[in-house]
Amino acid sequence: MATSCLLPCIAVLFLAACASASRQLPLGPNHGDVPNDFSHVCDPSRFRQQGLDMEEFAYCDKSLSYQVRAKDLVDRLTLDEKVQQMGNSAKGVSRIGLPKYEWWSEALHGVSNVGPGTHFDNSVPGATIFPTVILTAASFNQSLWKNIGQVVSTEARAMYNVGNAGLTFWSPNVNVVRDPRWGRVTETAGEDPFVVGTYATNYVRGLQDVEGAKDPLDPNSRPLKVSSCCKHYTAYDVDAWQGVDRYHFNALVSEQDMLETFNRPFEMCVKDGDVSSVMCSYNRVNGIPTCADPNLLKGTIRGEWDFHGYIVSDCDSIEVMVDGHKWLDDKGDDASAQTLKAGLDLDCGNFYPDNLKSAVLKGKVKEAEIDRSLNYLYVVLMRLGFFDEIQQYKSVGKGDVCTKQHIALASQAAREGIVLLKNEGGALPLSSTKKLAVIGPHANVTWSMLGNYAGIPCRFVSPLDGLTTFGQVLSVVDHVIYQQGCVNAKCDNDSMIFQAMKAAEDADATILFVGTDLSIEAESLDRTNLYLPGYQTQLINQVAASSKGPVILVIMSAGGVDIQFAKDNEKIRSILWAGWPGEEGGLAIADVIFGGYNPGGKLPITWYKNEYVDQLPMTSMPLRPVDDYPGRTYKFYDGPTVYPFGYGISYTNFTYELTSSPHSLLFNLEPRQHCYPQNHTNKDQGSQCPAIIIEHSECTYFIDVEVTVHNVGTRDGNEVVMVYSAPPPGIDGAPIKQLIGFQRVNVAAGQNVKVKFSFNVCDSFNIIDAAAYNLLPSGAHKILVADKSATLEVSFDY
Ligand SMILES: *[C@@H]1O[C@H](CO)[C@@H](O)[C@H](O)[C@H]1NC(C)=O
Ligand SMILES: *[C@@H]1O[C@H](CO)[C@@H](O)[C@H](O)[C@H]1NC(C)=O
Ligand SMILES: *[C@@H]1O[C@H](CO)[C@@H](O)[C@H](O)[C@H]1NC(C)=O
Ligand SMILES: *[C@@H]1O[C@H](CO)[C@@H](O)[C@H](O)[C@H]1NC(C)=O
Ligand SMILES: *[C@@H]1O[C@H](CO)[C@@H](O)[C@H](O)[C@H]1NC(C)=O
Repeated sequence: MATSCLLPCIAVLFLAACASASRQLPLGPNHGDVPNDFSHVCDPSRFRQQGLDMEEFAYCDKSLSYQVRAKDLVDRLTLDEKVQQMGNSAKGVSRIGLPKYEWWSEALHGVSNVGPGTHFDNSVPGATIFPTVILTAASFNQSLWKNIGQVVSTEARAMYNVGNAGLTFWSPNVNVVRDPRWGRVTETAGEDPFVVGTYATNYVRGLQDVEGAKDPLDPNSRPLKVSSCCKHYTAYDVDAWQGVDRYHFNALVSEQDMLETFNRPFEMCVKDGDVSSVMCSYNRVNGIPTCADPNLLKGTIRGEWDFHGYIVSDCDSIEVMVDGHKWLDDKGDDASAQTLKAGLDLDCGNFYPDNLKSAVLKGKVKEAEIDRSLNYLYVVLMRLGFFDEIQQYKSVGKGDVCTKQHIALASQAAREGIVLLKNEGGALPLSSTKKLAVIGPHANVTWSMLGNYAGIPCRFVSPLDGLTTFGQVLSVVDHVIYQQGCVNAKCDNDSMIFQAMKAAEDADATILFVGTDLSIEAESLDRTNLYLPGYQTQLINQVAASSKGPVILVIMSAGGVDIQFAKDNEKIRSILWAGWPGEEGGLAIADVIFGGYNPGGKLPITWYKNEYVDQLPMTSMPLRPVDDYPGRTYKFYDGPTVYPFGYGISYTNFTYELTSSPHSLLFNLEPRQHCYPQNHTNKDQGSQCPAIIIEHSECTYFIDVEVTVHNVGTRDGNEVVMVYSAPPPGIDGAPIKQLIGFQRVNVAAGQNVKVKFSFNVCDSFNIIDAAAYNLLPSGAHKILVADKSATLEVSFDY
């Protein structure tokens, strides 16, 4: 059955049904916006009100460049005034017309009220909350990632205009998921640095780019819709695990892992996303707190990557250096001087305002370093239109928050992310069901769908709401019975399991909603095992054993869970992973369950078996196998998994054809280019010229790959085409394979779609060796797509 017409019909009916429910917030048009307490700094009427003559202030002269204007502004300030502008709550200087500004706002997956810069009130009571990032990542749809950023920045700009938000948002989180126990998996785009970097680039562009504006030659004059921030730089992914926390943790990281894994998303965020802020993390890297490391900040971010923006600390990072790491036994002024010299421009906290003046007076740091940082900060605010209005956002107001289109995109994001993990005998989509049992601690959740760094949503659609309303609208379900099964996600006892079994006994189908929430995996809370919490496993097994009809298991979690038992249980016919799907989650889940949408998401992380985490401590940073520890992520671990990275099936079936050209590449080495010796496990495989260093070569070769995806089933479907490269066999420490490109496509039943990729040889077939050289090895590389592969033979003539 082709179902493409079903979705719009259901969505319209559903929105209508919801609009009448009493707990909906009004989604009405824009009326009576309250203006901000000022519209923009260089508004002449502001200066007149303050009895100042704006003509005298060159920093308001639009004919000058932002850098010149920022310098004029900074040069007017006394040392006292300067340091008061260097904490997240900048105090302003009224004598020259400079207002206060709160730098800290957040917008990880919707405008959030986590930072003090943003709040909800009667004027704007809520904003659109999208799925948490790990689910949105599972869509592998770059245009969706960017669209979400665009919607979030429109809502942010609207809230700024009515005085409810700032313009600087400290999102996204671009740390790589190195270990499955990490509590902040939900905030990220998963374990692959290329995917995380691609997500970051799209989301940042969605947030920052002013639609229709051309990129100027001077990046310091590029206008910003809102300012985005890639965080937490770097090698940050231990929160709190068995007595080790981020405020004390020293990550021991090789240069190889730094380049290849930890810094790659930040590099893409800066170079490809042109982000205007980077946040340094709490942890130390190889002994040095990241916010105090001049190599990491001034050297890599500003120097190598040519960053244009400001570097901010994670909140109270300088205090953490002093009290947590006790670094160099520094007190406030030494610590502040160190971080300023290293390149930290803004302190989320009070250490800069409280200590920098004395640091300068004692000669620990030059005032010119303060000026430099303030210049970066004011140029960003100028690019944002804080000083002169950006015309095209002037009329954006509260009527642009929680619009029908925005809410529809939130449910679309959840639909696109949901991953079908098992579907024996085509149990899903669910057809006509008289009595449907809906069971589990997640069946009627609301806030748990939002994860962390959320705000107040426009509304909620719980799974139970979604299933009930959809089932009735479609007339496929006569009767829904609900049983919670456990009192909450922790599921500390089995007291509610018996009633849940009863409910399943005479239902024609049973849907079980289980998983985790922020009480299990969160910031400052890493997991110690990968099992479902408490009695959830028992709940599932017992309900499955007693159920009359097929059982469908829906996992709502951020990180992977070891559900091998459910995969092996024949009564459990289907398994879906629905992440933490945002305010519209229940709508998306119901749409997938009843077949209005054919799921096409793929797991952005490996789902390990629980044994895995007993084999290595969370604090061991290497990605490659070391000291009897297994490797990490699909690139370096090929042991058993519950589900591998990239896994996800569909209600239809796809087959692939793959062509690539050319099949061989001969590089003529330049006179100054040398062959680079490379260790092979098998000496015979080492060729005469094993590799070249990429830095020394032009890298103008491209490999074109065309993938034809056939939908050989009877339903329209969505498929993510994932292309990997695998290096020639036998190179010490090389990854098993690495993702080099992906694209999500919609393929109608019986049809095919051709997907084209063009891969730069140096970007897509390189390896980083133990000495942190970026190399192109000679020999037979593989290109892999699903079950198909092609070979690329690279050789060097010298
Ligand atoms: C990708 O997302 C966009 C929404 O931004 C959607 O319109 C499009 O259909 C999606 N593509 C696929 C193949 O699912
Ligand atoms: C579902 O949760 C909502 C509040 O979150 C509550 O009002 C409602 O009664 C619950 N539904 C059932 C059937 O328990
Ligand atoms: C089960 O847990 C709930 C919530 O923690 C508690 O209220 C209840 O008393 C417990 N029941 C038993 C039998 O321990
Ligand atoms: C997909 O292919 C498998 C194996 O050939 C088959 O068992 C299954 O019925 C097919 N499913 C669909 C939806 O076409
Ligand atoms: C090859 O391996 C040896 C011993 O493990 C090591 O000392 C050397 O640096 C390696 N050479 C390269 C090019 O990686």
